[in-house]
Amino acid sequence: MPADLKNVFSQIDADYENLKALLKEAVAIQSVSGDPSKRDETIRMVHWMKKHLEEIGVTCNLADLGTQQLEGKTVQLPPVLLGTLGTDKTKKTLLVYGHLDVQPAAKSDGWDTEPFELVEKDGKLFGRGSSDDKGPVLCWLHAIRAAQKNNIELPVNIKFCFEAMEESGSVGLEQLLIREKDGFLAGTDFVCISDSYWLGTKKPCLTYGLRGICSFFVEVTGIKQDLHSGVFGGVVHEPLQDLIYVMSQLTTVDNRIKIPGIYSQVATLSATEEKTYDEIEFDVAEFRDSVGAKHLPTEDKKTLLLRRWREPSLAFHGIEGAFYGPGEKTVIPSKVIGKFSIRIVPDMQPEDVNKITIDYLNKVWAERGSPNTFKPRPGHSAKPWVVDVNDANFLAGARAMKIVHGVEPDRIREGCSIPITLTFQELTGKSVLLLPLGAADDMAHSQNEKNNKWNYVEGVKTLLAYILELGNV
Ligand code: BES
Ligand code: MN
Ligand code: MN
Repeated sequence: MPADLKNVFSQIDADYENLKALLKEAVAIQSVSGDPSKRDETIRMVHWMKKHLEEIGVTCNLADLGTQQLEGKTVQLPPVLLGTLGTDKTKKTLLVYGHLDVQPAAKSDGWDTEPFELVEKDGKLFGRGSSDDKGPVLCWLHAIRAAQKNNIELPVNIKFCFEAMEESGSVGLEQLLIREKDGFLAGTDFVCISDSYWLGTKKPCLTYGLRGICSFFVEVTGIKQDLHSGVFGGVVHEPLQDLIYVMSQLTTVDNRIKIPGIYSQVATLSATEEKTYDEIEFDVAEFRDSVGAKHLPTEDKKTLLLRRWREPSLAFHGIEGAFYGPGEKTVIPSKVIGKFSIRIVPDMQPEDVNKITIDYLNKVWAERGSPNTFKPRPGHSAKPWVVDVNDANFLAGARAMKIVHGVEPDRIREGCSIPITLTFQELTGKSVLLLPLGAADDMAHSQNEKNNKWNYVEGVKTLLAYILELGNV
């Protein structure tokens, strides 16, 4: 590592209280995109970020996306923050994407601390969004500020695209980007997204694949209102019984999908690709213990990783209309909507997956023989994304990891989805690098989400090293 960079890194370490203070402010803004009552906060978060980007000299524009219908109300969509730092024609341009919104959280969900109050404990920074994705977004800001403080000229121009609807399907973003193909997006040479996690807790990695997703709703109705189960039990066809039957036919006990044809579109695994899995550092027992499970459907490292990253999976999310509160309620719900999604991989196409899934649901329903009304329908979908791990952008990312952590990062895929990744790749025609900063046990979307103090601080250094390495491409 060059001596002057070492010096900058020590300054970043010394600046920790300031780094933390900014994350504290960001976490305190309750930018829950899925909750219409928090929409003002979500919009405020975009303005807050704009102010901080402007402080480091970024020229910002807010792209208005109009309104959306949410839970029967018309609500304003948060604007997308488009920023430009540097317009030097002799330099290449890096485009950074991140999201400023978060998943819902309440202390009553089982958090040990207030979710929207950043709390440091045992080297961990707890708070909603600390890792997904406010922490990593702020690392970009701190990295650039550190360069500026040390009069280090950035070797690339940087553009920022920060949205606040990612956790709710990035409504309107794709259309905006399509409109901006020859505008804001023109001249992009590299894209980088820091919104994923390491495979474990110690070794850094670069992410070269994401699964896509197909969501489904299955509605069953049959009686005009909820009924007393003592008065009507046994003499009506219960929608919830029908729904549970249908949902139970989707997977096996080992969580394999029973929909015919679902595995046949999966790209075949070549021997060379399979071999890359041997080298990846991954502790199955640590993974199993981290989720608190006694057994997993497979505990073979390679099979487990293949199932997470390059095979489809089906997850149940919930049943709208079913009683779920504590205690007993002797009721027969009149209308229930089952929710599940299927993560998809190359070469599966969302339209095909939607079709075979709906066909299968209809077939199972016909076998059930219930006179109730059955309405299955697909929700949002997104395509999977996989790229070459050795292009110039990935190599710059790998060198940055090496500078900061002293090791060559593993190349991994992810089971999750960031739908806009493929859009950036297709519209710019350039390489998109997923550069994860957080640890595998950060618990994004869950109770007690955290970002390790160490990952947050090293993340600032990593992004700075990456920006500087892009100058050597
Ligand atoms: N940051 C995550 C995606 C992610 C998580 C990537 C872990 C890699 C590792 C993102 O904020 C997210 O939650 N995405 C959603 C998208 C969905 C709502 C379409 C997901 O994957 O569930
Ligand atoms: Mn995220
Ligand atoms: Mn998320």
